[in-house]
Amino acid sequence: MAILKVARMGHPVLREKCKPIDPAKITGPEVQRLIRDMLETMIEYNGVGLAAPQVYTPVQLVIAGGEESDDGRPKLRVLINPEIEVLDDEYTLGMFEGCLSVPGLRGYVERPAHIRIKAHDEKGEPVDMELEGFPAIVMQHECDHLEGVLYVDRITDPTKLGFEDEVQRFLDLADDGEED
Ligand code: NI
Repeated sequence: MAILKVARMGHPVLREKCKPIDPAKITGPEVQRLIRDMLETMIEYNGVGLAAPQVYTPVQLVIAGGEESDDGRPKLRVLINPEIEVLDDEYTLGMFEGCLSVPGLRGYVERPAHIRIKAHDEKGEPVDMELEGFPAIVMQHECDHLEGVLYVDRITDPTKLGFEDEVQRFLDLADDGEED
């Protein structure tokens, strides 16, 4: 296992359209090693999610958290070649997002709050599920990375972008305690 370097905003790898992974290769050593290394990297840097292009590998693989298992521990989902469908255009959720590729900053983004995702999991099994609320936000943030999109692109009010401390002190008045 290895902790990988995380690409920062400005590096072109973050703006690439990522290639799909051949489902037959998901259980192969290369993809499995990438998954293990991404998990270790994400945990090391306290991320709620991580997308493969953030570790200089522009393929369609994301890890997304924001959910809890029944025992209260964080639940992480590994999704490959994900396709997102918005289930309700009117139902949105806004929050100050962060990103390991945009260190130190937070910006307010509003996104659909109820989505359906089709993908493959880390064993190559098909996944078809719905997510609602914070986990849906995390998943969309991570899947944006696969299209070369960063959360800063989705900020509609530029006064709602700031450094973490200042956002916490002056902007995030709702203070829902969530980070991603
Ligand atoms: Ni990110």
